[in-house]
Amino acid sequence: MRRAVCPGSFDPVTNGHVDVINRAAGLYDELVVAVLVNPGKAGLFSVAERMELIRESVADLPNVRVDSFQGLLVDYCRSQNIPVIVKGLRAVSDFEYELQMAQMNRELAAIETLFVPTAPQVGHLSSSLVKQIAGFGGDVSRLVPKAVDDRLRERAREGRS
Ligand code: PNS
Repeated sequence: MRRAVCPGSFDPVTNGHVDVINRAAGLYDELVVAVLVNPGKAGLFSVAERMELIRESVADLPNVRVDSFQGLLVDYCRSQNIPVIVKGLRAVSDFEYELQMAQMNRELAAIETLFVPTAPQVGHLSSSLVKQIAGFGGDVSRLVPKAVDDRLRERAREGRS
């Protein structure tokens, strides 16, 4: 069985992430979307909320599983027997850091990285911009899955965005 992991913070998942997940799911038998648990960074959504939002956003993809991990990504890959990491590239500016991580992960554990160029329509998206716009009451409905838009609106109503 060919398996890969799509790791990230996903705080929250955007249409850009969904594009990469969709396309990677078409290339592997099973794709694990793994949310980083970062004890040093609270984030807007809890890891459990992020996982639930991803599940709702990719519910139409039967070969996608959502999980979380702590520590080194390569340790997670080894523990799950996953040999490939899939990353989306939005622009050249993403490439330098992503290349460095890909080379490091290969050196650490012989894990390969596959880069998927994002669709041009979502190349400008980032979770931090989405949070900033939603926090000021802007409309992000075209930038994120419906479940995320609903949740961000709820947060804004509660004054917690
Ligand atoms: O969505 P992000 O924040 O760009 O995702 C970055 C992520 C989670 C893929 C990266 O920070 C990561 O792999 N973190 C786990 C710690 C690790 O393995 N660090 C060494 C990288 S060479």
